[in-house]
Amino acid sequence: MTVLETAKKMIDYSHGNLHDINHFMKVYAYAKMIADGEQLDPDTQKLVEMTALVHDIACPLCRVKYGNTNGKNQEKESAALIAEFFKDSNLPQDFTDRISFLVSHHHTLDQIDGIDYQIIIEADYLVNADESHFSGDNIKNMYDKIFRTETGKFLLRSMYQNCLENETL
Ligand SMILES: [Fe+2]
Repeated sequence: MTVLETAKKMIDYSHGNLHDINHFMKVYAYAKMIADGEQLDPDTQKLVEMTALVHDIACPLCRVKYGNTNGKNQEKESAALIAEFFKDSNLPQDFTDRISFLVSHHHTLDQIDGIDYQIIIEADYLVNADESHFSGDNIKNMYDKIFRTETGKFLLRSMYQNCLENETL
């Protein structure tokens, strides 16, 4: 299964919910940029891009089941949905296991254990800071405490310059 096939399948899976589609396509674009900047090996690059596309796979189910897309509920529901999504993908088991782990942890900031995880956190935050109107203090705190990659920090600084005007690399 390719990144293109994953994108097409995920868009189709979203049943015309343009809010969801626009969200994960933006996260995908930033994740790809950050991954390009980190010069990952081809497998990790593919894993990051695919994870960005499917990272919010549990949102539609959570809206129905819980009435919200609270991060903890998403983390609980994601694994089964990811397993089903990639069932016929011919991707190695350890590859889809890692996607499942990352999707299930993408709201957990204190367990970042690899560059793939780091990139998903940064890319999702870049989009959520806008979509969810995060405060300047929240953005500054994320910049100082969580963001690590050069490209991710560059993007956060450039996109939210009014909050980060005194920050340097
Ligand atoms: Fe997201």
